[in-house]
This record gives sequence, structure tokens and C-alpha cells, in this order.
Amino acid sequence: MRKLLLVIILFSFQQLFGQLKPADSIRLENLMKQMTLEEKIGQMNMYTGNIFGDDPVFTADFKYEDLKNGRVGAVLNVNGIKNTKYLQELALQSRLKIPLLFGNDVLHGLHLLFPIPLAEAASWDIGLMEKTARIAAIESSARGNNWFFQPMVDITHDPRWGRVMEGAGEDPYLGSLIAAARVRGYQGNGIGDTTSVMATAKHFAAYGAAIGGRDYNTVDMSNQELWNVYLPPFKAAAEAGASSFMNSFNTLNGVPTTASSYLQRDILKGEWGFRGFVVSDWGSVGDMIAHGYVKDAEGAALAAVTAGCDMDMEDQIYKKYLPKLVAEGKVSMDIIDDAVRRILTKKFELGLFDDPFKFISQERWEKAINNPGHIETARQMGRESIVLLKNEIPEGKTQPVLPLSKNIKTIALIGPHIMSVRENLGFWSPWWPDDSTRIITQYQGIKSKVSANTRLLYAKGCEVSDTSTAGFAEAVRIAKQADVVIMSMGEQFDMSGESRSRSDITFPGVQEALIKAIYATGTPIVMLVNAGRPLVFNWAADHVPAILYTWWLGTTAGGAIADVLFGDYNPSGKLPITFPRSVGQVPIFYNHLSTGKPPKNDSIAYYRTGYIDLMQNPKFAFGHGLSYTTFEYGDFRMSDSTMKTDGSIRVSLSVTNTGKVAGEETVQLYLRDKVGSIARPVKELKDFKKVILKPGEKKRVEFVITPDKLTFYNEQGKQVLEPGEFDVMIGSASDDIRLKGSFLLNDEL
Ligand code: GLC
Repeated sequence: MRKLLLVIILFSFQQLFGQLKPADSIRLENLMKQMTLEEKIGQMNMYTGNIFGDDPVFTADFKYEDLKNGRVGAVLNVNGIKNTKYLQELALQSRLKIPLLFGNDVLHGLHLLFPIPLAEAASWDIGLMEKTARIAAIESSARGNNWFFQPMVDITHDPRWGRVMEGAGEDPYLGSLIAAARVRGYQGNGIGDTTSVMATAKHFAAYGAAIGGRDYNTVDMSNQELWNVYLPPFKAAAEAGASSFMNSFNTLNGVPTTASSYLQRDILKGEWGFRGFVVSDWGSVGDMIAHGYVKDAEGAALAAVTAGCDMDMEDQIYKKYLPKLVAEGKVSMDIIDDAVRRILTKKFELGLFDDPFKFISQERWEKAINNPGHIETARQMGRESIVLLKNEIPEGKTQPVLPLSKNIKTIALIGPHIMSVRENLGFWSPWWPDDSTRIITQYQGIKSKVSANTRLLYAKGCEVSDTSTAGFAEAVRIAKQADVVIMSMGEQFDMSGESRSRSDITFPGVQEALIKAIYATGTPIVMLVNAGRPLVFNWAADHVPAILYTWWLGTTAGGAIADVLFGDYNPSGKLPITFPRSVGQVPIFYNHLSTGKPPKNDSIAYYRTGYIDLMQNPKFAFGHGLSYTTFEYGDFRMSDSTMKTDGSIRVSLSVTNTGKVAGEETVQLYLRDKVGSIARPVKELKDFKKVILKPGEKKRVEFVITPDKLTFYNEQGKQVLEPGEFDVMIGSASDDIRLKGSFLLNDEL
């Protein structure tokens, strides 16, 4: 009996304080009782370190004073073991010795850089994305970073928006799987483990829907759009156990998300039962004055803390105004205590009260950054992130251009990114000098592949974005001498990323002119496109016979690209976002509504739902990605043509490799709810299976359609399941549907 009683007490504590062990729950409460109001508010205050270097660690003396007096709960942008140790020691000089959290933007690796998140999403390899997240956590935790401001899970339909590179593209289903995988990767066996870090789902919410793709801009949308498109990845991250959420710079329907009680309290902490804490984005509390939502900083503090924003990043507004607001009774101690309890709970979970220095280990750091398995994983992710957009047989030839032979006589390497080093890492890679010696350039990758008899000629041809064509002549000259040209074109590494929205998403500078000049030589071209977003490059897409989208692939970029170019890896990537024909087509995405006049074709007026000067479909569709082999889909079977609301239907098909090399195909399942209480998309990705096949090999692929794949959210944000007819579409891309079926959801049958 006594044992049962103890279990009940333990369980209730567990529920009350979430994830804490009973002893820690008691320690937490004892600590709360000792804390002054100033010390409590201190936990809600976060400062940045010196983001432009490490010396001094803080660029303002008051931060040191606040640290020593318990007025800081967390810091970000503090790098390196020495600095982390130093600041933790200062924090432990405070009266109650509450240890600091150390946050950082480790978007795609810290020392070892992986492909940018949008590139990783193109792999559709959920397990591998979890693995790269795990490696990033292993590296960073050894350096004292125990809190990532990742995963960024913002859905977007707008490639003008620079931060598209940080996310997983346009699809809620794929984005949700990736969000959960990255949370699992970062948090590993739980955040008490020394190789784990706290994950943060950001930017909550709908930041990717900024008007015009202009960063930080206004967001206006219906609740059903919010619930059906933008919230699912956040819900998935919360369900995967994300330790924190970060709100966003935008207003949502007129309310800055930092002050949105609907998002932070009703949905996140209420409906989803989230027990972590919410941190503001950089200065987003104070930004509310400029938003015109509050009159002054005091008003901002009141609005944010009341709405459930638990921690204030860098703008000191909580520190300065919460004491007064509490004294005046405008902010209750319940609100303060809830925020502080959430933050301290995570510090106890991390084990920082037992050992504030547990996340700092030179030995673990050395081991982590010199792990050959990590580097191989980065290269594998690079290979799988590459998307083969096109691979045709050039005029007068008998074979597609790719894969290239390693014994090819002469290759001309042309373009601004053949020799690039830093570029390959993309945005959010501030620690790149640490690892610069290991970066494999595209030139190095190619050189390491070809035979000793292969002659490599090189000419840059042009810069990324200046207007000089002076380099064209040399580029044309070497192209004429070559059997094939590899052109590496695209953006500058920092042309996509935060505050990097572009109104024109074509190749910058004179790159297209260079491509045309090289094309005129008649030598077949393989084009590599390096970018953090979908670009528009119609002329090249229509004329160049072989195109690989190589995004920014990180430290091992050149190796991964060469593996694909020369056939050591058969490309398997699929686009996680739609590529428009022009920026004028934006927003364009695959899971759109039908409209009352669905396009019959491009010429019949009144049935275009598009433009008179442009074809209606995108340049490259969501889910598009070719292979060096071909796959045939057949023998489609459905276990039933009706389904009850508590039932399921099995759908299966055979996939055959009908080409000459082994390859991996991502078989995609799309569903369409034909009639709903709100108009429903023409198709929605609801499952996918990756299947590896040898030449001639056939495998069966099966999907199980369950009710959760048929639900949607109505205007009230309620998940509903409505009887009716559903189309089933199986394809190699959203615009390459190979097999179709349908079924009736109905309990009466
Ligand atoms: C930035 C970004 C956010 C980042 C934070 C800390 O402005 O919006 O994604 O995590 O500030 O660097």
C-alpha cells in the first residue's frame, strides 16, 4: 500500500512540474521561495554576447553587473569553452547561484556545416535529418551551448523571403515530420544528457507568410489557413517535446505574435499543453512600439508577459519595467512565477543545478569535431539533398549528359562558384573559420573524382553579381576545348537568410549571359545552381541539358556534388518547395484550392486562373526530382472503396526500376477531399515512402490511409473529419501522378 501511495505522489509531482524528478521539483519550489522579485525577473532576461567576435564576451559593462547580481537567466552568441565557462562562473557569484542557459543559432551545424535546412528537406530523409541534428547537438553541447534556437519550422509559399532557406519548404505534412525529427535529434535521449541541447520551435507563428516575402512584414490570414498550413509543424515540434518556442517579428492579423495570447496561451500552453517556455525573438518585445501596438516600453512589457512570452531577448524591457508593473498590480505574481517556473524547470531538467559546467568539455569537443562518421554523414546528407531537375540527351549525342565519365578527356569548369569556399556554407554559418580547412570546394570535389588523364580547365567567367563580362572570352575559349562544361552558378551565400528578401529571384549579375555564351559554343553543359531559395532561370532551364540544384551543401559540398556528377551517387532529391516561372507567379504552391474555374489549359480565356503572358503551372513542381534511372509504377490496389471514420484503407502499388543503375525513388501519396465545409486543396501530401531498387528490381509499396490523414481544421481551429469522397493520387512528384483511385468515407455503409 505504502508503495502505491508513493507512486501516486510521485506521479502527481511529475504532472505538476512536467518532466522533473520529485527531488528537483522540491528544490525548484524551495528556490522560488527564496527568490526576490528582481531575481525572478532576472531569469526572464536574456542578453547577447559579442556577436562580432569573442573578446570582450559582452560589449557592455552593465551586462557583467547584471550577471553577477542574478539579473540574467540566459545568454546567446557566446562561443567557445573559455567564454562559456567565464560567464557561468560570473552567474554563480550571484546570491542564489542560478546557472545560465547558453543559446545559439546552430541552424545546420556548428563546426561541421551540413546542407542548409531547405536543402536537407529536399532529401525527404527524415532519419538522416534527425542524425545531422544529433551531430550538431553533440558538437555544440561540448562547447557549452545547451539551447538551440532551432528548428525553424516556418512554412512559406514565397521564395522572395530570404528565410525560406532556414525551413522545410511549403508543405505542412513534410514540414511536420522534419520539425519533429530535428527536435528529436537536438534533444536526443532527453535534455539531461550531456550531448543533448534544448530545441526551440520558431518563429511562432506564420512568419513565412509575410506580405510580399518582405522579411519582418505583416501577416494576415484566416484561422483555417493558420491551422491547416502554418501551425502543423509547430504542433509536431511541441508533441516531439521541444523545450522552448520562439515567437516572431510579425503581426498576425494585427497583433504582434509576441503579444498574442491566442497563440502563446490559448493554443500553445493551453490546447497543446506545452510546458516549456517561450522566448521573444531579438528585441521583438520592444518592436511592438514600432508596430504601433503599444505606446511605450512599459506597455510592451505588459502586453508581452501577459500574453505568455516568458523571456525577453536582449532589449532589457522586462528587467526595466516588470518590477513597476508588478508593484502597481498590473502584472500578477502568478504570471511571473509561471514564467520563472517554466525556465527553471528546464535548467533543472538540463542538470545545470547539479553541474553548471556539465556541457563544457574540451575532450568531448575534440572528439566530436574529429569524428569521421560525422563528416561522412554530412556528405551523405549533401548527396541526398541534391535535386536533379533535368538530364537530357544533347543534340547529336545518344546519352543524357549525366552521370559524367571519370575518364572524360577535358572538362571546362566555369562560373563564380567553382572555386568558392565560404559560399558553400550558406547563411547562419558564423563559425565557418573554425572549419574552413575542411571545406571541400566544388573544384576539389571534381578533381578528386576524375582520372589522371582528365584535363580540367577553369575560368570563372563572371562574378556572382557584378556586371562585367570581361571574363566571358576566356570562358568561351576553354569551353570550346572541352568535351563537357560544368557551370556553377547562383546566389552569394548571404543573398538568402535573415533580412535577405529579394524582389528579383533570377540569377544575379550577368550569369545568364555567360550561360548563353557558353551554350553557343555547342559544348554540352551541366549546370549546378547554388542558392538558399528557388531561383528563376527559365532560359537556362529550357536550354541547358542537365541541371542539378545544389543549394548550399556545407563543409563537404564539393565532395557530395562530385559524387552525384560522376554517378557515385544516383540523385534522389525531391523539391520541398515549388519553383515559379517568374516572381510574378508568387505565391504559387501545389496544395492550392481548385477555384471555381480550374484551368483547362493556358489559352482559353476565363479558364486560365493565371496570366495571359505566362503558363499556369510552375517551372518545377513540389516533389519534382529525377534520377539517373527510371521508375515504373503499376499494379495499384486498394483494400476497399469505402472507409469508416474509425477505419483505414490500405493502398499499394509496385515500383520497378526500369533503368540501368540502382536508384532511390520517393513515392508520394496525395489525397483530395472532394467536398468539404470549407473548400479543400486539389491535393495534399499525406505520406511518402523511399524505396531503393536495383536495375530491373520491383518492390511493393504500401500506404495505410487512416482518419488522421483526412482531417482538417475549420475556422474555429477545430480538427474535423467529414464524410465524403476522397481522391487518392500516387506520384513521383505533385505534377507527376502515376496512379489514381478514390474511396468514400462514410459510417453508414
Ligand atoms: C534573429 C532571428 C532568430 C534568431 C535570433 C537570435 O533575429 O530572427 O531566428 O534565433 O535573432 O539570433
